[in-house]
Amino acid sequence: MRKNIVAGNWKMNNSLQEGLTLAKDLQSALNGKTLNCEVVICPPFIHLAHIAGEVRTIGLGAQNCADKVSGAYTGEVSAAMVASTGAQYVILGHSERRAYYAETNDILKEKVLLALANELTPIFCIGEVLSEREAGIQNQVVESQICEGLFDLSAEDFGKIVLAYEPVWAIGTGKTASPEQAQEMHAFIRKTVAGKYGAQVADETSILYGGSCNAGNAKELFSNPDVDGGLIGGASLAVDKFMPIVEAF
Ligand code: 13P
Repeated sequence: MRKNIVAGNWKMNNSLQEGLTLAKDLQSALNGKTLNCEVVICPPFIHLAHIAGEVRTIGLGAQNCADKVSGAYTGEVSAAMVASTGAQYVILGHSERRAYYAETNDILKEKVLLALANELTPIFCIGEVLSEREAGIQNQVVESQICEGLFDLSAEDFGKIVLAYEPVWAIGTGKTASPEQAQEMHAFIRKTVAGKYGAQVADETSILYGGSCNAGNAKELFSNPDVDGGLIGGASLAVDKFMPIVEAF
């Protein structure tokens, strides 16, 4: 069966020292707990190698990787470098990367291949902006992000992908998708995957929800049959805000 995952996307927050403290405190809070989900944290690149030494039961991911293997790409961090820190995941196609750094589905396709080649699990983000939802075209938008970014993969490789539906209008706004809106879209995403790869691959794909998910709404969101966890921004930056989300499963 597919995995439930609660992943924290720290975005561009925390000094190295603050990040280490947060990771250590989260690991302490998790020690001895039996959970119904895997917990993952995605700190900034420079934290990864340090935090890898502090976490035992927490998965570790990067927030991005380069679309090139190696070489003269100043400022970039490759999938191989991410993997060499001990990280197992990489968030790809976050809406902030798409919007502020012009990441297209074509670029993301390369990143996905490099992540998989380095045995990283991509957490591939998809989601519509407000005007697209208002125009009622959210399904087409999400479908094309999935098709263009991922549907060149073999079924075996697609089986290694985690999807994260993050409606852009819900990110950092305090305006969460309703449980019904989340379920409706997640079911549509699973149907889209089933149409390409068949029911078994679709059933085994974890689809996370992201966008103003917090201690107050996580339980209701996660109780939907097609919502397999969350990708958490702001509420992942404090243990007392993140733990209730983790424990919402
Ligand atoms: P918030 O939880 O802060 O809305 O951010 C969601 C997100 O973008 C996670 O990737």
